[in-house]
Amino acid sequence: MVELGVNIDHIATLREARKGAVPSVLEAARVCEAAGAHQITVHLRQDRRHIHDHDIYTLREALRVRMNFEMAAVPEIIAIAHEITPYTVCLVPENRTEVTTEGGLDVTAQQDRLAEVVQGMHARGIKVSIFIDPDIDQVDASIATGADSVELHTGAYANAEGAARDAEFARLRACAEHIAKHPIAFHAGHGLTVKNLAPVAALPGLREVNIGHDIVARSIFIGLSNAVQEILALLR
Ligand code: PXP
Repeated sequence: MVELGVNIDHIATLREARKGAVPSVLEAARVCEAAGAHQITVHLRQDRRHIHDHDIYTLREALRVRMNFEMAAVPEIIAIAHEITPYTVCLVPENRTEVTTEGGLDVTAQQDRLAEVVQGMHARGIKVSIFIDPDIDQVDASIATGADSVELHTGAYANAEGAARDAEFARLRACAEHIAKHPIAFHAGHGLTVKNLAPVAALPGLREVNIGHDIVARSIFIGLSNAVQEILALLR
């Protein structure tokens, strides 16, 4: 089945609204694990707006499932990744003024530098995913870096309607078919919800989705465990 990484950044967003200790990111991770999530995803942003360094160290010790560490490929965060050795890092672009990750990483513009980042992670046994827009050139550049997987940005698909959504889905499908011909794994994420997940989950070769906002938002009404389980049911 397509595996689920639950992004729990927004548990920390709620905690940071009062700068206190609740809701606990660790407790949220445990609930997601118990509900059947295959992976916990966290983004340690350079501005530390939600997840903090201590969350990363605590989760690294306590998680039973894989940790997917989303990060900007900048020296400070690369050093933290090398120290904690998560199962995977997912390289994302980061812009201090954005509300959330807005676009994919421009790999074509920095292929050689990213290849060095990939090598440094591989030397420490860490797998590397790269978050990119559904664009064949970006897929090819990601393959050339030696990355283990690409995560296709599904935000444009999620935000579009009608014919525009069909066009965005066609871009995802074209990339999925291209990826299937190469030795690199296919992940997807951003903006995925119980309502829009099914067509994406059926894309050829998809191995993993990372979902955060919709699960945390639905957890207010149905509980975190149920919110994780309803996504898992769709993936099955
Ligand atoms: N994948 C990546 C690379 C992301 O940056 C994000 C958002 O942090 C997600 C998945 C999850 O997106 P959403 O919160 O919209 O489900």
